[in-house]
Order: sequence, then structure tokens, then C-alpha cells
Amino acid sequence: KRKVILDCDPGHDDAIAILLAAKAPKVELVAITTVAGNAEVEKTTVNALKVCEIAGLSDVPVARGAGQPILRERRTAPDIHGDSGMDGPLLPQPTKSPVEEHAVDLIIRHLLASDGDITLVPVGPLTNIALAMRREPAIIPKIQEIVLMGGAMFGNTTPAAEFNIFVDAEAAKIVFESGVPLVMVGLDLTHQAMATPEIVERIAAIDNNVSTFVVELLNFFSDTYFHVFGFGGAPIHDACAIAYVNDPSVFTTIKRRVDIETKGEFTYGMTVVDLYGVTGREPNVEVADKLDQEKFWTMLCDALKQYS
Ligand code: BDR
Ligand code: CA
Repeated sequence: KRKVILDCDPGHDDAIAILLAAKAPKVELVAITTVAGNAEVEKTTVNALKVCEIAGLSDVPVARGAGQPILRERRTAPDIHGDSGMDGPLLPQPTKSPVEEHAVDLIIRHLLASDGDITLVPVGPLTNIALAMRREPAIIPKIQEIVLMGGAMFGNTTPAAEFNIFVDAEAAKIVFESGVPLVMVGLDLTHQAMATPEIVERIAAIDNNVSTFVVELLNFFSDTYFHVFGFGGAPIHDACAIAYVNDPSVFTTIKRRVDIETKGEFTYGMTVVDLYGVTGREPNVEVADKLDQEKFWTMLCDALKQYS
């Protein structure tokens, strides 16, 4: 099993990523850390706790992280995720609390104590990961791999930038220049993981309390994706990063040089991918390319069935 720290901002698709991480056969979910992104960090933390509670994940610690990007004003996504960050399902207030330790401290502590066998899976803005790298650079060679959801060769927040990178591009720049092996699971890939009505039906047929929760998430999420982007379903972005850690054959990657734009007038937060190698610079990122959709949905459904 691969040890994973899941850094997230739940978030409908973040919630599904948590549910998959907890039951994927090759993943050991060590901890969940939260960050401001889809909503303020107070809200994303409560949402993470709610997901743990409905899923019975009482052993997985949840640590609250950064409430603000490194340099930028905070930006949230109520148009996509609602005001709570996870609108739709009605869940009770969680009884479990976050651990005392700050997310950045938890990440540093686990990495320093490890044999280099921890994979970080950030599926929100990269603030916590960048802060951890700056606070304790000795963690950098200890990270086995970072499999992140973010970026793309196009944008969903501006024409050039994807949300997670746009929210804290300075943090993304630190992470992309860190030298750690990186897999970028961007929109190019995650838009292939579209929860169409047929997929939602397939999940509904599992018929346990967690699959019902997922259906409620997807109903809300599909609605906002239809209104904002005109899509016929919602892409389950964040679960794709976990799916890759569980089974890398679920998608193909291409190794390219990727740099983060932090200055452009129109392109702040863009992941600039050197597709044709025109810069001659050493590639630093495995860029996710083609998703095996059947494999992905089967993996997710198999995980959800285990909650029965
Ligand atoms: C990313 O932004 C968030 O809204 C989602 O949770 C996902 O991590 C997609 O751009
Ligand atoms: Ca997210």
C-alpha cells in the first residue's frame, strides 16, 4: 500500500476523493489536511470531518491548514460548491474535532519520521505544501511523489488558469520548482471523468448510505457545472489523483517542462506546459493525458460498495 496524506478543500469532488482514498486497495490514508480553497478553511475542515463521519473514518486524523494563500487575497468558489463549500447533502454537524496540530506541522512531522515512503496528494490550492517546504526544506527529499489535482493546458477560472493553481500560484511555483517527482492531474484529464446521469445511476444502484451521499453531492455539483459551464455532468477532478496513486495504469502521462505563471496580465496561475520541448529545459512533471474511464468508474464503484 502507498501511504498518502490527502490535502484538500472539500469540495464535492474532494469528498469523493476522501471516500475513494479510504477504501482503495493500494492506498493507506495516513491523514487528511485542509486548506482554504473552495470555501474558507473553517468550512472545508468541517466538511472533511463530516465526510469522515458518514464514512466511519474515525481513525484518520483531520488537521486544519492555511486559511489564506501566501500572497494573494483569498478566493473561494461558491458558484460551483455553494456557500458551505459542500452544498447539497444535509449532514449533521460532526462530533469529531480536528487534531490540535496545524496541517503544515503534521505534514512536516510525518515526512521527517518517514523512510521516504509518503506520497502527498494535494487536491486544493498548494498553500500548505509550499509552506511546509519553506518551513522545513529537509522534507523535500523525503517526499516520494506529489500527485496533485490542478492546472491544465486551459483554464476554468480564467481562460488560462485552473482554480487550484489560480488561488495560490506563488505556492504552486514553489512546489513545481521543488525538484520533487510530480504528477499533474489537470483539467485535460479530469474532464474525462465526467459523472454523467448514467454514472450517477450506476452509483445510486450501490444503495448504501455513502453511495447515497455521493449521489446527493453529484446532483448539486452537476447542476452548478451545467449552469456555469454548460456541461452534461460534473467532472470528479480530485478523485482522479487518488485513482492514479491506487493504480497508475488508470491514465497515461507525458513528461514535460511545466512552469507556473505568476506575473501575466491575462495568464496569472497558468500552468505553462512545454508540449513540444521548445525551451530545451529538463521536464519536471508527468502531465496526465488519457483516462481509462471504465477502469476509473469501476474503481470508484468498488470502493463505494465497501461501505455497505
Ligand atoms: C478543482 O477546483 C475545485 O473546485 C475542485 O475541488 C478541484 O480541486 C478543479 O479546478
Ligand atoms: Ca479540490
